[in-house]
Amino acid sequence: MSSTLFRTKKVEQSILDTEEPEHALKKSLSALDLTVFGVGVIIGTGIFVLTGTVAKNNAGPAVALAFVVAGVVCALAALCYAEFASTVPVAGSAYTFSYASLGELPAWIIGWDLVLEFALGTAVVAVGWSGYIASLLDNAGWHLPASLSGREGADGFGFDILAAALVLVLTGILVIGMKLSARITAVVVAIKVTVVMVVIIAGAFFIVGDNYDPFIPKAQEVPAGGDLQSPLIQLMFGWAPSNFGVMGIFTAASVVFFAFIGFDVVATAAEETRNPQRDMPRGILGSLIICTTLYVAVAIVVTGMQHYTELSVDAPLADAFKATGHPWFAGFISFGAAVGLTTVCMILLLGQTRVFFAMSRDGLLPRFFSHVHPRFKTPHRPTILLGVIIAVLAGFTSLSELAELVNIGTLFAFVVVAIGVIILRRTRPELPRSFRTPLVPFLPIVSVLASLWLMLNLPAETWLRFGIWMAIGFLVYFLYGRSHSRLGRGEEAVAVDTVKPQRGDTE
Ligand code: ALA
Repeated sequence: MSSTLFRTKKVEQSILDTEEPEHALKKSLSALDLTVFGVGVIIGTGIFVLTGTVAKNNAGPAVALAFVVAGVVCALAALCYAEFASTVPVAGSAYTFSYASLGELPAWIIGWDLVLEFALGTAVVAVGWSGYIASLLDNAGWHLPASLSGREGADGFGFDILAAALVLVLTGILVIGMKLSARITAVVVAIKVTVVMVVIIAGAFFIVGDNYDPFIPKAQEVPAGGDLQSPLIQLMFGWAPSNFGVMGIFTAASVVFFAFIGFDVVATAAEETRNPQRDMPRGILGSLIICTTLYVAVAIVVTGMQHYTELSVDAPLADAFKATGHPWFAGFISFGAAVGLTTVCMILLLGQTRVFFAMSRDGLLPRFFSHVHPRFKTPHRPTILLGVIIAVLAGFTSLSELAELVNIGTLFAFVVVAIGVIILRRTRPELPRSFRTPLVPFLPIVSVLASLWLMLNLPAETWLRFGIWMAIGFLVYFLYGRSHSRLGRGEEAVAVDTVKPQRGDTE
């Protein structure tokens, strides 16, 4: 039995599958497209919303350090992702990587886990977007009824109509085609980066040195009773749950980690990249470096503009400018945030449909979903199905708890990918790797430990929800995936010598 659970899909087979005309995606993306994609999905709710929340509740001005901690954890994971993505350039990200290295069950677990990251992430960002749009509409004097502006605004029934509408429109765009999406993304990313630069440069003139005192606020005990909301690590070791101080920086890092989610999505587009061996590592690392630099700068500026105890938790960047008496800047920033969050949503949705597509192509989910549209060359069926489900979810969900669930799912995927790099080096040392993770196995091991550390800093209740979701995943695998797997049925025996030597030439 264990041999079937850990059967692996040959890397050559994964590449070969992408050449079957009916199941092939269009290869149209360059390194620049990938970097733009990366920045497009990375900068979002994390920097625009969570910066204020964690500065106020967990870290004070040291939130800048929390961004550095989270950035380092992501950089370590990125080095592992880049090796995998350049070795196994097919749709599906961590899912495909683990199918090639760890085996079918771990691959299934990862695919299931990625639903947390992408689908819930899309819903969370859509809700954040709707908040900004609602505030812009308020400025213009239009007010949505509470029952249509989300759960938190309503007494009884509440449906966030703006969030749901956003997801449905983006679904339509993705069905029409990748290239169109990439163009829209490029424009939106330009607006978003401009807004972030404006915050940094204009905001620097309003910094008041006293606001940095204390830079790392003294640790404060959290009132008893909220056990499940305390970081797991504090409960495990029986520490008194606390906020701020040095531990507060790590708690903050485990939350602002959300701001970095998305660089791994770049890897899910490997199959649609012209020259994945060269462009994939450039796209992943490039977008990560740009975003980390911007985040740290924004965190330093914003906590310098307003004392951390006074920062707003809904729109901290815009409100910091309001507080200094510059409402025009605030409006501009809100507009940029609303525009910017659109691409985050779209690319997370794209990542989700591609993972689903890859799992269905392998037979672990119904194969009905792995046919690409004859004209648009996009996996229209999973895109529409997931788009509708996520739209409903976005209509009914609240932001903060789900963001933590997204984080734990993503960190877990990082752990599996890093272990996968070590295993694949042993089992398939001869595979061509245009990008090699340095210092294997040392660096992947550090990456595993760093991701686990952030996971342990998440609340116990997040762990509980994560456990329940994964248990459901096991059930689905044993009831469906295991018996329908193409690999298990021996359907993968297509001649390997038909693989084209230059994948970039196949368009
Ligand atoms: N990193 C993305 C954001 O912050 C998911 O919204």
